[in-house]
Amino acid sequence: MKNYIDSLNWRYAVKKYDNTKKVSAEEIELLKDAVRLSVSSVGLQPYKIFVIESQEVKDQLIEAVGGNNKNIVTAASHIFVFANELNVGPDHVEKYTNNISIQRSLTKEEVAGFGDYIKGYLAGLTEEQKNIWTAKQAYIALSTLVNSAALLKIDTTAMEGFDPAKVNELLGLNEKGLNAAVIAAVGYRHDEDAMQHLKKVRKPKEELFITL
Ligand SMILES: Cc1cc2nc3c(=O)[nH]c(=O)nc-3n(C[C@H](O)[C@H](O)[C@H](O)COP(=O)(O)O)c2cc1C
Repeated sequence: MKNYIDSLNWRYAVKKYDNTKKVSAEEIELLKDAVRLSVSSVGLQPYKIFVIESQEVKDQLIEAVGGNNKNIVTAASHIFVFANELNVGPDHVEKYTNNISIQRSLTKEEVAGFGDYIKGYLAGLTEEQKNIWTAKQAYIALSTLVNSAALLKIDTTAMEGFDPAKVNELLGLNEKGLNAAVIAAVGYRHDEDAMQHLKKVRKPKEELFITL
C-alpha cells in the first residue's frame, strides 16, 4: 500500500510532455489490462476506449482541445479517449449477460433475472440520464488508468477541456453510438514542466472525511 500512496504522491497532472519518450507497447497493454479490470455499475462497462498512438490523429486533436491541452495532445506518447455508449438498452444488456453465461458456465435462464433487473433500471431513465450514467462509468475507468499508470511511473493528464462534438466527429464516434466523455494523455513528463515541483494540494483528511 505504501508503494501505491507513494505513486499517488509522485503523479501530477502533467502540463508539458517529453515528446521524445514513448510508452512501450508492453506497458500500454498493462494499462489496458488495468482499465479492463476497472469497476463499473452492474459490471456493464458501457464505454469503449480509443488508444491513439498515431501522431497524425494526435495532431488532429489540436482542433478539438482548448488552451494548453493543445500542447499536451501532440507531445504525449498516447491519448486515451474514454467514449461512453449512448442510449444503452436491452441489446447492450443482452450482450453482457451472454458474456456472463459464457464466462461462468451458466445457462441463459440463470442470468436472465440479472439481465431483466438491469434492463428495468435502464428503462426507468431518460436517454439523457442514461448518457450521464454511462459517462460516469467512463470516468471511473479514467481514474483506473491514471492511478495504474502512476504505479508504472508513467505520467498522465486527465482532460475535460475539449469539445466533445469535435472529438466525436474526428473519431466518428456518434456513428458508433459513442460520445467522447473524457480524455487522458499518457507519456513522460518533460524536465522543464514546472508543475512537477509544486506541492500537492488536497483537502486535509479531517475536512474530507466524516466518520459516523
Ligand atoms: C476529470 C478531470 C478533468 C481534467 N481536465 C483537465 C484539463 O482539461 N487540462 C488539464 O491540464 N488538466 C486537467 N485535469 C487535471 C486537474 O486539474 C488535476 O488533476 C488537479 O488539479 C489535481 O492536481 P494533480 O492531478 O496534479 O494532483 C483534469 C482532471 C480531471 C480528474
